[in-house]
Amino acid sequence: MTAKNVVILAAGQGTRMKSKLTKVLHPICGRPIVAHVVDQVKQLAPQRIITIIGHDADKVKAVLGDQTEYAYQKEQLGTGHGVLQAESLLSACDGITLVANGDAPLFTARTFKHLFAYHQQQDAVATVLTATAPNPTGYGRIVRDLDGNVTKIVEQKDATQEEAAIDEVNTGVYCFNNKALFAALHKVTNNNAQGEYYLTDVIEILKREGAKIAAYRMHSFAESMNVNTRQALAEATRLMQARINAMHMDNGVTLIDPTNTYIDIDVKIGADTVIEPAVYLKGQTVIGEDCHIGSFSTITDSTLEDEVTVTSSTLENAIMRKHSNIGPNSHLRPKADIGEDVHIGNFCEIKNAQIGARTKVGHLSYVGDATLGTDVNVGCGTIFINYDGVKKNHADVGDHSFIGSDANIIAPVKIADHSFVAADTTVTEDVPYHAMAIGRARQTNKLDYWKKLPVADDPAWNE
Ligand code: UD1
Ligand code: CA
Repeated sequence: MTAKNVVILAAGQGTRMKSKLTKVLHPICGRPIVAHVVDQVKQLAPQRIITIIGHDADKVKAVLGDQTEYAYQKEQLGTGHGVLQAESLLSACDGITLVANGDAPLFTARTFKHLFAYHQQQDAVATVLTATAPNPTGYGRIVRDLDGNVTKIVEQKDATQEEAAIDEVNTGVYCFNNKALFAALHKVTNNNAQGEYYLTDVIEILKREGAKIAAYRMHSFAESMNVNTRQALAEATRLMQARINAMHMDNGVTLIDPTNTYIDIDVKIGADTVIEPAVYLKGQTVIGEDCHIGSFSTITDSTLEDEVTVTSSTLENAIMRKHSNIGPNSHLRPKADIGEDVHIGNFCEIKNAQIGARTKVGHLSYVGDATLGTDVNVGCGTIFINYDGVKKNHADVGDHSFIGSDANIIAPVKIADHSFVAADTTVTEDVPYHAMAIGRARQTNKLDYWKKLPVADDPAWNE
């Protein structure tokens, strides 16, 4: 079998983004642009993937890790110069090298596979992947001779008026005979409008040497789009999101308005789950079947089992077990573990806490650093006071216990099974089995208090 290698160009800064972050690291649907490219080329099972890095090299490496090898391009002197940096790693290899730009996140493995197949079928030395652009401005143009054979690629800034009118453009993806590629790269000069060493010049060089050049025209121009500006970033995000949302709908998920639902690429969702508009599902979130996610919810890196309902709430790094519900307007922070059939109502915050099955935390409560058993009732406005200014302390509440409203549970403390905390109690000591803790000032009624008021004799106040 012919050896396959891949080179991904990702050294440029991306000046037109006007960003402190290097262009290829801008995220699209939860994954940096260049990581989308790597993800797709990996599906070709190439022998080697080499990413050309330069700007923010360490950050690009940190994102891609050991999925690829790296070649460092110190100065970005052009795409041809970029590929040449892989020479010491690749030049001895036989076979085919696919080159792709690291700023084109929408290409699919399927398209790359078609390009490979066509390149082999044509027995070409170089095959360029082309598309028809509704507006070709900015792209390299594919110049063909009278017989329709590709003779060269001309960059926008070097194009004659006639060439600029060509609407077949270079998508920035190519297959090359590896050895021919590196031999030709040494012949590329920077004698052009941008003073750069263009990879695209390899086509003309090989052609002049009599090599067979092919072009494979893909149907979807949109898939080939590269991100050079923030507007293009938004457009690529829209297209990627549409692709992701279509996949979930094909899997049996209801999206009430797929144009207003934001789901990161790694999120998993079970069938018959319904997602209302203006929902964000981020990171490594996993959602079960028959869940209902209401509008204005943001769920990040969380796991929801089946039949969970989330209403306008924010979840991060949390677990909601089967048939539990939350909201509106509540917040699960990291390590909140909400048990089966649990009800978390409105305006509650839960952090680093395990809430046992069927327990209810209905209104306006903070539960931090606590373990609550099963069938516990936490009254309105209860606060687990976990922080003493130095460290976080843990509270335990046993099964079937009842915490009255407005209780303050000052940790560390243990409230046993089947015990009670009276409303407005500040718990500072452990509460034993079957006991009731009550700690609040006794009420006194000041009789005839009214008479002490300055208005006591004012007829207007005595009507
Ligand atoms: C390039 C092509 C153009 C094609 C377009 C498709 C060239 C000369 N032009 O233009 O024909 O239509 O892609 O998207 O190749 N990079 C490096 N090192 C460098 C320069 C660039 O690694 O020295 C990387 C960039 O980070 C980027 C990619 O190469 O990921 C493409 O560079 P960019 O400057 O965006 O090329 P285009 O002008 O889009
Ligand atoms: Ca580009």
